Amino acid sequence: MFERLSAPKQDPILSISVAFKEDPRPNKIDLGIGVYRNSEGQTPIMAAVREAQLVLANTQQSKSYVGLAGDEVFNKAMVDLLLQGTKLHSRAAGVQTPGASGALRMLADLLKQARPDATVWISSPSYVNHRPVMEAAGLTVKEYPYFIAETKAVDEAAMLAQVEQLGESDVLLLHGCCHNPTGADISLDAWKRIAELANSKGFLPFVDIAYQGFGDGLMEDAAGLRILADSVEEMIIATSCSKNFGLYRERTGAAIVIGKTMEETMKARGRILEMARSTYTMPPDHGAAIVAMILNNPQLKETWLTELQDMNARIKRLREQLASAFQAATGSDRFDYFKRHKGMFSVTSLSDEQIATLRQEHGVYLVGGGRLNVAGLKESDIDAVVKAFIAVGA
Ligand code: LMR
Repeated sequence: MFERLSAPKQDPILSISVAFKEDPRPNKIDLGIGVYRNSEGQTPIMAAVREAQLVLANTQQSKSYVGLAGDEVFNKAMVDLLLQGTKLHSRAAGVQTPGASGALRMLADLLKQARPDATVWISSPSYVNHRPVMEAAGLTVKEYPYFIAETKAVDEAAMLAQVEQLGESDVLLLHGCCHNPTGADISLDAWKRIAELANSKGFLPFVDIAYQGFGDGLMEDAAGLRILADSVEEMIIATSCSKNFGLYRERTGAAIVIGKTMEETMKARGRILEMARSTYTMPPDHGAAIVAMILNNPQLKETWLTELQDMNARIKRLREQLASAFQAATGSDRFDYFKRHKGMFSVTSLSDEQIATLRQEHGVYLVGGGRLNVAGLKESDIDAVVKAFIAVGA
C-alpha cells in the first residue's frame, strides 16, 4: 500500500528539537522552537495553571464528552480577551481548537468552502506552518513583501502597496503581534491603513495572534487587531494559549469568526463544527478548562497576569543584554535590532552555511532562515552565543 509514497519532509522547526535532544554536548544551546525558558533553562508550569490544575483535579466530576465547539466558557473568554469593547465583539463566535495550528486549519478549510478560489496572502517571510496549512486546505498562497533584511525592519510601504492591489477573493493573513519569525511588527498606522483598504477593496483580514502578552503587554499586543475590529465588517482570527499560558503540549487555541451579520457568523461557526467532526470530532479539554478557570477567577487571573508580565519583562531584558553583549564584542550597533524587535524571535542575517556551522561546531541551534528564539536563552548563555556568532563571521 505505501510503496509509492515519497519520503516525508522534515518539519523545519520540530526536527531541530529532535536533533538538539540527540546532541550529547552538555553546553549545547537550543534557540530553535518557540518556547519560553527561565534563567535555569526550564519551561515552567505557570503558577496560576498549576493552581487551576489542582482545583480541576479535585472538583471535575466527569470525563464525558464536552461538545464539538469544546468549552464554551473558554470560547467566550478568548473572544472577550481579544475583542471586548470593539465594534465586532457582539458578532464574534469562537470555537476551541487543538492549538492555533488547529484554528488555522479549520479557518483555512472554512475559506475553501466559502470561497474556493480564494488566495491567502502571507508575509515574506512568515511562520513556517502558514503556507503548508493553507495549501493543505487547497487554497492558493501568495506572499506580500514584509521584511528588509539589512535594517531588520518592516517594509511597510512595499507591504501596503501590495495590499492595495488585493480584492474580494483575497485573504490577508497578518501576525497580530510579535511577528514570527522576524520579531518586526507593523505600526498602528499600518493597521489603520489596512482597515481602510479592507473596507474599500473587500479583502478579508485574517489575524494569527499566538504571542499576545509577549510584546508590549496583553492589551497593547491586541491593539492592531482591535483597530481592525473597530473598522471592518468581517474578519477571522486564530489565537493560541501555548505561549501566554505556557500550555504548549495541551494544544489549546481558538478559531474566531465574525461575519457581516450574526447569521453569517453562525453559519460559518456551524461549518467549522461540521469540519471538526470529520477531522478530530472535538478538541482536548484539559488546557481550555484551565484557561476558562483562570480567566473567570479574579485571583487566578491576577496571578497569571503578573507572571506573564514577568516573563515579558525578562524577554525584554534578554534582548537588551544580547544587544549590549554584541555591541561590546563587535564595537558596532549592527545587532541592536535585538532590542527593537518584539516577542520571542528575531531573524538574524546568518546564511544557511553559518547556521550549520553554529550547530555543528558550537552547539547553537537556530531555525533555518536564521530565526533565533531570544526567549529560549539563559542569561549565562549570552556570551557563548555572541562568541559563536562572531566565530562564524556574523
Ligand atoms: C514556533 O514557531 O516555534 C512555534 O509556534 C511552534 C510551532 O508550532 O511551530
